[in-house]
Amino acid sequence: QKLDIELAAIEKSGYDHFMLKEIFEQPQTIFDSLRGRLDAKRGTLTLGGIREHAALLSQAKRIIIVACGTSWHAGLVAEYMIEELCRIPVEVEYASEFRYRNPVVGEGDVIIAVSQSGETADTLVAIESAKQKGAIILGVCNVVGSSIARISDAGAYTHAGPEIGVASTKAFTAQLAVLCMIGLKVAQEKGSISQQRLQHLIDELDGIPDKVATVLKLNEQIRQVADKYKDARDFLYLGRGYNFPVALEGALKLKEISYIHAEGYPAAEMKHGPIALVDENLPVVFVATRDSYYEKVVSNIQEIKARKGKVIAVVTEGDQTIRGLADDIIEVPAADELVAPIVSVIPMQLLAYHIGVLKGFDVDKPRNLAKSVTVE
Ligand code: AGP
Repeated sequence: QKLDIELAAIEKSGYDHFMLKEIFEQPQTIFDSLRGRLDAKRGTLTLGGIREHAALLSQAKRIIIVACGTSWHAGLVAEYMIEELCRIPVEVEYASEFRYRNPVVGEGDVIIAVSQSGETADTLVAIESAKQKGAIILGVCNVVGSSIARISDAGAYTHAGPEIGVASTKAFTAQLAVLCMIGLKVAQEKGSISQQRLQHLIDELDGIPDKVATVLKLNEQIRQVADKYKDARDFLYLGRGYNFPVALEGALKLKEISYIHAEGYPAAEMKHGPIALVDENLPVVFVATRDSYYEKVVSNIQEIKARKGKVIAVVTEGDQTIRGLADDIIEVPAADELVAPIVSVIPMQLLAYHIGVLKGFDVDKPRNLAKSVTVE
């Protein structure tokens, strides 16, 4: 049965690339990551893998999230989620930095290691040394029985299935779903969330697979946007709050598979220097869905337009304000800002995929990259 699953995964089943297949699998893989854990009807969350540690997590003085690359971006979203839901300080560390700077870590610290492969050397060594210093390790991995999963004290698997494309897509959205459930579970344990808000967020999470499926229907429109901007030399990706890590992830996707230089920034940070980069040749992708930062993001878009930048904006469907400002808009279904990154990242994935393909690159095996970086 496991072999069948593996064999099924290594089939492209009609898609041109594994990456596109995996992008389109996301309604199912997010559903699979929620299945058996999230029960919207009963308003319950069951995370067997961290059951014994939920109390310890809820009493943690701080939580340190250790990861690399796309998984680090998932950790950044989790920081915003956990701090908002649980009021526990969260630090997100690049594993490669954390392991070498002799960090202050020990008894009472909880570390969440996020890793699709569960074999990333930087993450593995970082948590091994933290464990020796007395920290508790929770693993969020996609590969059952992987090294990081094995040395973790507890954890929760993402159920995204084997991810073949080097550029991580379905693992990222599965990580966000699992990290969100962990945040909700700890908040429930800690009593830092009302039953009403808990039920609302459980319902929001439950509805995400359908919203992702809706965004996937924009594939052709996004391919046309990709065609319009594929020859740009640089891109900026901007977002605020929960959408800031999505901007970082969008920039990484583009770099990885189209080899175009792209930077993600908090939208408000532009005025501290980077806005000097803006001219009529610079596409700026805004993750600008309706949330508590919206009005500020609109003025950031105006700042870019005032300097003749080209603006591609991911917006909440029905948005008329940004429609009048942006050069291209991609409308996604409304969602609570805490879970919105799972939806707003989909256009980022498709934009990068299509630009890479239109430029004639092997998007499944980009140059210089390995699927799992098991060496330093
Ligand atoms: C993401 O698209 C890249 N393939 C890369 O940054 C990856 O996220 C990183 O190497 C971490 O891998 P892991 O999740 O398997 O630990």
